[in-house]
Formats: sequence, structure tokens, C-alpha cells
Amino acid sequence: SGAVRPRLAFLGCGYLGTTYAVCFAELGYDVVGMDVNAEKVAKLAAGDLPIHEPGLEALLRRNLDSGRLRFTTSYEDIAEFADVHFICVGTPQRPDSDAADLSQVETCVTDLAPHLRRKALILGKSTVPVGTAEWVETLVQRHAPPEAGVEVAWSPEFLQEGFAVEDVLRPNRVVFGVKSDWARDMLYAVHKGVFELAAVEDREVPVVVGDFATAELVKVAANAFLATKISFINAMADLCEATGGDVTLLARAIGYDDRIGPKFLRAGVGFGGGCLPKDIRAFVARAEELGVGDSLRFLHEVDRVNARRRTKVVQMVAEMCGRTSGPNGPDLSGLRVAILGVTFKANSDDVRDSPALSVARKLMRAGAVVTAYDPEGMIPAKNVVPDAAYAKSVNEALAGADLVCVLTAWEEFRHADPAALAELVSHRRIIDGTNSVDPTLWTGAGWTYRGM
Ligand code: UGA
Repeated sequence: SGAVRPRLAFLGCGYLGTTYAVCFAELGYDVVGMDVNAEKVAKLAAGDLPIHEPGLEALLRRNLDSGRLRFTTSYEDIAEFADVHFICVGTPQRPDSDAADLSQVETCVTDLAPHLRRKALILGKSTVPVGTAEWVETLVQRHAPPEAGVEVAWSPEFLQEGFAVEDVLRPNRVVFGVKSDWARDMLYAVHKGVFELAAVEDREVPVVVGDFATAELVKVAANAFLATKISFINAMADLCEATGGDVTLLARAIGYDDRIGPKFLRAGVGFGGGCLPKDIRAFVARAEELGVGDSLRFLHEVDRVNARRRTKVVQMVAEMCGRTSGPNGPDLSGLRVAILGVTFKANSDDVRDSPALSVARKLMRAGAVVTAYDPEGMIPAKNVVPDAAYAKSVNEALAGADLVCVLTAWEEFRHADPAALAELVSHRRIIDGTNSVDPTLWTGAGWTYRGM
């Protein structure tokens, strides 16, 4: 029945599908990654990783060589091959609303289902509005041959870019949303490698088994909580600023209470990326459809606090450079601003909803001339914000600058030498949007410093 060592297919070789496919091959499963994009499939099959994720490319190559991992563009192929089909396609925000666009989920399920000839599990991984698993089940009933007995289950992922390999191999919990004992047993079989690795390392992986709705909600609830934590500390940063307090100390002090915890309390330019911003909006939109919008109204405020961080950097630039504000915001015409960091966070090349690029756009709209540098994100940034200038190094970005903004907490910026950099700029002004550089070093070298 395949329940001993199920064979796995991953639909969608984006960030999620690729990481999962590679890591499950590493755990010893026979795996196929499937994507409709032939170019992407060819790259992956050649051992070429289209994303930046520490450790993943080496694992990709090793498992291609071992023969446990391959890639395909064919639904027939995976239908024939796999016992479990992981749905790993994107669920972006719709262009016309805050809701999630489920068209890729719909396409991959309806294209796969007619080819399924034997019992298999369709396992949702993508982040989706609650109710999607039930809908996928109706799609399967409509499009798969009834005698195949295809079932559906949902198991959300919690991987963090930059730590994705660890998060898949060593998850802090797994969540199974199932309707039958067969599906539950299959999910245990699928995760056997994860449990075995944990046993060898003397860890335990908690398993939460529930219904479809709970499994779907766990994911968005977790992301909503994380986003709330960040906006909370950013709101406290405003209070600190109004009173001369220090939000970094405050975060440390409240974090010692283990009911609060020290993580996700770094104040700064706010959260971005392909997940938190879109997930909280889609969550609110879904709650409204369900008639419980009031319960999530606070997430609007979480989003607004976050958006204000980006505008705040622009105001800080104006204040530090003595520029006045008109009815359309500050006038920054001719001001040369160097931006260090364009990705949504350090150790990533992802610029989706990047706070840094949002600040860059606002600065340029106010008339500033922006030159940016980032260790990994330059190519994607050029696509999204083509009208900024891009430098090849920190030094090149800072040449002649009136002000420097650190907007992604890359290690490289923390280790920069403020005294040497002081020689390059027109004015020694720095805004640290990440609260990650050491203010005493910079002020010691004659810089005017402002943190968040
Ligand atoms: C996030 C969640 O952390 C993962 O658990 C989840 O699985 C993932 O979304 C997803 O839904 O797929 P990720 O988007 O990779 O992961 O990034 P995070 O590390 O969570 O950072 C999100 C944003 O919050 C970044 O812009 C980061 O700079 C910011 N952040 C994070 C802060 O501003 N302060 C903090 O203290 C922590």
C-alpha cells in the first residue's frame, strides 16, 4: 500500500516545494519534484538551485546523485509514481483584494486528479484560507476516478527562510489535518524519517492531529501571532522614542518572562517578505467572509503599525537632513541616500514586500537619489525597483552620500568600519532601521546616529 515507505511528489518547485523535496530525499524517501515551468525543472535537475537557502544546494546535488531525487514537468509521471502528492504551489495576495489567490492550487489539483489510478493522498502544504482543504476534496471528487479512492489531508509548514533545511528536518512540531485513519497513518509514515532522526538525536517532535479547519488555522494563527509580536514591539519603540526609553533594553527585559519569550521582539523597519504581510491580510479577509471579521480587526492595526515604520524612516531622513515637509510629505529633492540592504531580511535574497525597497521607493518619490547595495538581493531588487542606482559594494554605495540607511540586518553591515566609511560620504549621518549596528562605534567615528 506504500504505507511503509511512501513515495512522494511535490507539486510546485518554488521555495517551499524545492526545500521539502530535497529534504525528504535526504531523509531517505524516493522523491519527485514537479513544476509546470520546464526551465525551472531543467535547472533543478542539473543541480542548480534558483533560490538562496543555506545548505540546500549541497543537499540537492547529493540527492540527485543518490538517485532518490528527480524533477519532472509531467502530471502523468507523478500520478504513476507517488503515494503522496504534496501541494506546494504559491497562494499570493490577489491583485484586486486582500484575499488569497487559490488559482494555482485549483490548477494543480484539477490537472493531477484525472491521472490518479490508485489510492493516493493529496496533502496540502501551501498556506491557505480556512476551508480550502474541504474545497480541494470536492475538486478531487469531481476530477479523480472514483475507484482510485484518493483522499485529502492538510499539514501546514512553518519554515523560515534562511533556516528552511533545519525547519524541515528538525521541525518543532508537525500538524496533521485528517478525516480518516488511513490518511493519519499515511502522514505518520510520511514523517517516519523525521521522527527517526529526532530519536537518534534524543529529541521529540510533537504531533498535533486534528481536523482540516484546525490544521489550516494553525498556520495562519502562528503567522498572525508573530506579526503581532513584531508590531507590538514597534509600537513600544514609538513609546520609547517619545520618552527617551530604549526599546532594545525593554525587549530584553520583557523577554526574560518565558510567557513572553525573547524572540521576535526586534524593533525596526517592520516585517516584510512573502508570508507575514499577505497572510495577515488574507486571514482578515477570510474572517470577514465567515462573519467573524470583528475578531481579527486588531490585525488591521498590526498591519498599519507595520506600514508606519516605513514612512517613519522617510520622516527621519527629512529631520536629520533639515528638510521641511509639504502637504505631500517631505521634500528630499537632490538628497543622496545610500541604502544598505534590500532584502526583506538578512541571509535571504528574497525582496518580496521588502521594507527596504518600500523605503527606497518612498525616498525617491520625495525626490531623493537612492543608491543601494546588498550582498545577495541586487538582481531581484533591480527587477522590482529599476530606477534606483545599485552599487557593487558598501564603499561604492556610500560615496558622496548625504545619509546612510541600514535597512536589512546583514552581518557585513554590522562589521563595517565607521571611521573608514566616514571618509567616503558627504555627511556623516546614519539611520539604523534594523537596530543592529553598534551606535557607540558610529558616534565615536563622528557620525550622527538614529535607530528605530
Ligand atoms: C515566516 C515565519 O517566521 C515562518 O514560521 C513561516 O513558516 C513563514 O513566514 C511562512 O509563512 O512561510 P519568513 O517570512 O521566512 O518566515 O521570515 P521571518 O524570519 O519570520 O521574518 C519576517 C519579517 O519579520 C522579516 O521582515 C523580519 O525582518 C521581520 N522581523 C522578524 C522583525 O522585524 N523583528 C523580529 O523580531 C523578527
